[in-house]
Amino acid sequence: MTSTTFTQDELKAQVGRAALDYVMRGAIVGVGTGSTVNKFIDALAAVKSAIRGAVSSSLASTERLRELGIEVFDSNAVDEIAVYIDGADEIDPHGYMIKGGGAALTREKIIAAQSRRFVCIADASKQVQTLGAFPLPVEVIPMAARRIVREFARLGGTAQVREKDGEPLVTDNGQHIIDVRGLHIADPLAFEAEVNQWPGVVAVGVFARNRADICLLGTSQGVRTLRF
Ligand code: 5RP
Repeated sequence: MTSTTFTQDELKAQVGRAALDYVMRGAIVGVGTGSTVNKFIDALAAVKSAIRGAVSSSLASTERLRELGIEVFDSNAVDEIAVYIDGADEIDPHGYMIKGGGAALTREKIIAAQSRRFVCIADASKQVQTLGAFPLPVEVIPMAARRIVREFARLGGTAQVREKDGEPLVTDNGQHIIDVRGLHIADPLAFEAEVNQWPGVVAVGVFARNRADICLLGTSQGVRTLRF
């Protein structure tokens, strides 16, 4: 098999285009958030007349979709979504992921749960054996942030409130994000279930219950399709 050197941006564009194969005619498509998804949205614009529209996981993706003339539906107006296309910060051999680098993890998890199939699009740098090298994003209610930071310290992690322009970043849901370093998440399902129970946690960026069904991985040999 031949191998070509692609930039990370080109790999993202490849998987963004490849994801179109999973978009059905007349469908409402679940759309994630991030630089890889932006490539998918650009590709989707070319087939916009063949779909009904999208449900979006962030204000940023909604704006981009609307700019390209794609109708965006409220998630409550749609019962079930056939396919959800989104990126990841890390993906392991079971399709478990860390997500939330773009602070959109809660809405991403809601749409993933509403969708029959999750197609993850990622460049090869996102593939890991065990989740945890990427700082784990957790959306929290601000009044609980310090206590949740201490809870993560108990698990061996170092957590920090994410900032933007010197202030805590405020998510689309009006909450804060903490990023946790130093974790080695050996059992993502158990970890997600545990952290979900902590008061003040809105969503944890481990996607285990809502893992990927398929990953389109951008590599120097072309797009690899991983099924889980
Ligand atoms: C946003 C996400 C993104 O999917 C994740 O951060 C990957 O982003 P990118 O495609 O820019 O690398 O979870 O909340």
